[in-house]
Amino acid sequence: MANNTVKNTGKNVVIIGTQWGDEGKGKIVDWLTDDAQGVVRFQGGHNAGHTLVVGQGDDQHVYKLNLVPSGIVREGINCYIGNGVVLDAGHLLKEIATLENDGLEVKSRLKISPGCPLILDCHVAVDLAREAKRSNEKKIGTTGKGIGPAYEDKVARRALRVYDLFYPERFAGKLKEVMDYHNFVLTNYLDAEPVDYDAQLAKSMQHAEALKPMVADISAELYGATARGDRLLFEGAQGTLLDIDHGTYPYVTSSNCIAGQASAGAGVGANMLHYVLGITKAYTTRVGGGPFPSELDIETEGAPGTQMSVVGQEFGTVTKRKRRCGWFDAAALRRSAMINGLTGLCITKLDVMDGIKEINICVGYKLDGKTIDLLPVGADDVEGCESIYETVPGWTETTFGVKTWDGLPKNAQHYLKRLEEVCGVPIVIVSTGPERDETIVIEHPFS
Ligand code: GDP
Ligand code: IMO
Ligand code: MG
Repeated sequence: MANNTVKNTGKNVVIIGTQWGDEGKGKIVDWLTDDAQGVVRFQGGHNAGHTLVVGQGDDQHVYKLNLVPSGIVREGINCYIGNGVVLDAGHLLKEIATLENDGLEVKSRLKISPGCPLILDCHVAVDLAREAKRSNEKKIGTTGKGIGPAYEDKVARRALRVYDLFYPERFAGKLKEVMDYHNFVLTNYLDAEPVDYDAQLAKSMQHAEALKPMVADISAELYGATARGDRLLFEGAQGTLLDIDHGTYPYVTSSNCIAGQASAGAGVGANMLHYVLGITKAYTTRVGGGPFPSELDIETEGAPGTQMSVVGQEFGTVTKRKRRCGWFDAAALRRSAMINGLTGLCITKLDVMDGIKEINICVGYKLDGKTIDLLPVGADDVEGCESIYETVPGWTETTFGVKTWDGLPKNAQHYLKRLEEVCGVPIVIVSTGPERDETIVIEHPFS
């Protein structure tokens, strides 16, 4: 009888955004790859934008990744795209070409699940046409990459998946059915142009050839990697408050972004997820529509929100939109901690708060005359929340690039300690700049 139990000699870490995305997951995944052998994406698609800054001065390289796991910039790390990811093959191939032009070896280290649903041009067309039809206050503010419609097809059991690409006749037939459906919706309901079937088929067949050498059974690969003692990082995209079930629905993305999804979206047992590291900005940002209780003005010169926007360079990587900014929201973090089972917190972008005289922490809300200390479920109730703030003193010294806890100003230490108390999760890492080394380790997740 086959023995299918694997002794896990490594310690795998799930890296999760605990807010509305862009918490700095990419930087931390890259930093942790020093001690890991593989990085796995398990949900989302090229709506993700993970920026990695490697090196200093003239030798500095900035990588912007959408689909390729952040392990790719470090030599020898294996990268895996699990079945939970929706795959725009054309975008992936372009991203690989850009990285290879930058001198990175990608194709031999990247493995893609045959089970990934494909994002097709009709998904992008539907995504854009729907957003165009929505009134301003109802716009989700999607990235326009076809993510929602592609996940809808998956759940409706009509998606074309990566393995379909290798059976041209079957692919052509399934594609016809799917495109007839979407073209009907585009032309009869969304007042938009149809998408050309022949062009999509030709393009997909080209992608098939280029993708084929990278397609592999990801469950089996990860099982094998674990058996040889590799440590794996599961790289979350988006953030907990954008989760399709637990986020501020309907102002969310279309996948589960929480730690448990690492199991379903990579095809591994939940017992392979040993440590959940929640990535959290020292403040809060959100890009796109939807409620944001601790939101600040980001236009007035000298205002704290404007400082977060400008110093934090809060522009979306994917859509270049200005990110909305606000105070740290502990009531939202408590929900995140609960849903993800956070083992530890990593606070990023502490340096962006340097010089803010008084810092507010949202510790709860007033909702319908009651006081609550946990973010409600769904956008309607969150919309009605009025933040309750606790004020702590800021600091005037710079924290940019500080590498030790003792090197932080006392008030920055107090701020972090207070965040830890109000969230109920230990802070194990603090990030003080975009570069790898600009990091304070309090307790290493691999220790
Ligand atoms: P992700 O989507 O969670 O990977 O985050 P993004 O990459 O979209 O956004 C985070 C941005 O902040 C990137 O441009 C990072 O280079 C940058 N960043 C990450 N950590 C820090 C930090 O501690 N301080 C500063 N100033 N920038 C940081
Ligand atoms: P990373 O991985 C921030 C947001 C969009 C929009 C909503 C739905 O870089 O943290 P979608 O295109 O997914 O249907 O859009 O989700 N969104 C993100 N916001 N960071 C992201 O990824 C995001 N991916 C999607 O702005 O509000
Ligand atoms: Mg991002």
